[in-house]
Amino acid sequence: MDTPNALRSGWASRFGFILAATGSAVGLGNIWKFPYITGIHGGGAFVLVYLLCILLLGLPIMVAELLIGRCGQRDAIGSFMALEGRKSPWRLVGWGSVAAAFVLLSFYSVVAGWSFDYVCKAATGILHRGNPEQISGLFGELTASAPRLVFWQALFILTTVGIVIGGIRGGIERWSKILMPGLFGLLILLFLHGMFSPGGMQSLKFMFVPDFTKLTSRSLLDALGHAFFTLSLGAGVMITYGSYLDPEADLFGLSFRIALLDTLVAMLASLTIFSVVFSAGMPIDGGPGLVFKTLPILFMQLPFGKVLALVFFLLLAFAALTSAISMLEVVVAYVIDEWGWRRAKATSFGGGAAFLLGIPCALSFNLWEGIKLLPGRTVFQSFDMLVSSYLLPLGGLMVSLYAGWVWTKEREKPASCRLADSGVLFAVWHFLVRYLAPAAVLLVLLNEAGLFS
Ligand code: PFF
Repeated sequence: MDTPNALRSGWASRFGFILAATGSAVGLGNIWKFPYITGIHGGGAFVLVYLLCILLLGLPIMVAELLIGRCGQRDAIGSFMALEGRKSPWRLVGWGSVAAAFVLLSFYSVVAGWSFDYVCKAATGILHRGNPEQISGLFGELTASAPRLVFWQALFILTTVGIVIGGIRGGIERWSKILMPGLFGLLILLFLHGMFSPGGMQSLKFMFVPDFTKLTSRSLLDALGHAFFTLSLGAGVMITYGSYLDPEADLFGLSFRIALLDTLVAMLASLTIFSVVFSAGMPIDGGPGLVFKTLPILFMQLPFGKVLALVFFLLLAFAALTSAISMLEVVVAYVIDEWGWRRAKATSFGGGAAFLLGIPCALSFNLWEGIKLLPGRTVFQSFDMLVSSYLLPLGGLMVSLYAGWVWTKEREKPASCRLADSGVLFAVWHFLVRYLAPAAVLLVLLNEAGLFS
């Protein structure tokens, strides 16, 4: 192992770290994707499987990623090089994660741009004009317009760059301390409103009373894949954020809190959305259009609907922003640590490049709809599949193999490379990261590759 750098300056406080890491975890995945996949997979039983995946697979891998970063004291690639040597093949795992974060940022920013557009629509009242068809038609109008998509995507990336350029304390931590409490406040407001609406009870039942007949093998795999995505695993985020942590921080405790908050947001957001949908007697399995097409119609019919719609899309925009920040930081940390660039230059470069790569993604909803990168998939869908179905699970698999099988002598290492608890918790973690996590993730990957179909 190379000697790690002198411990670098990092988070001002553990609380700041928790908010930033939770900010990464809580994103479009929680508020946009989780509700619609839960709707499609029939509720309760799917939620239960998802919770198990978070607890048994996601959490252990998060601990492993944070530990690798804190020990390596560098970006996602540099940390592996610091631990295993410059030429070690394990650095390729770091490469895969940085690539995943970069590509993810490019297409994530397109959907995040939609949330900006909807904030504007809600604020100016456009979202509340016309009949239901016209309101749900607004979404199609937006995605059909290339200039509008590119404009919002550019604005979103610019905002992200503006925050990351301020650094860990002055940018990411500072803004997470503003955006995350804002997000929680808005969410609780909406949630309370939802629970007191006529659909509140039905929504609770749908989420928490499991009906196992609705569970299919696809549900299991989707639950696992989403557990990875929602905890921001496999993209170097936790390695990078972990590299700014102090050696005494209790990684089990921190990871647990991040996963708990992430899960809480996903649950509250789903309960809220379902209560609105049930109140209106609409179908729950509306798919990806649930948030952008169905919800606005329902908001229109609710008392205070205008305010609620604005609050909801602000929430979505905040959540997307704190996640995008973490993706950009993965790339920026790499450029700073390995190329020696200054933060301002590295951030503008990373953001600019992700914007350029995101343009074909935006165009794949309109002008380039006919262009297929992977068979039958537009550029956006291909990037999404590459990252969400392959790169993130593969990154997680390699991290668990590394922590479980290769990096086994950590007790001889300095404090920053060790886990505080060497008792039962450590033994459970080691078992999960060594056996269960790799086996389960491998299963998902093989299934995605079509082995079982
Ligand atoms: N966790 C984010 C979400 O749920 O939207 C997505 C994400 C962020 C995935 C950062 C991966 C990542 F590195």
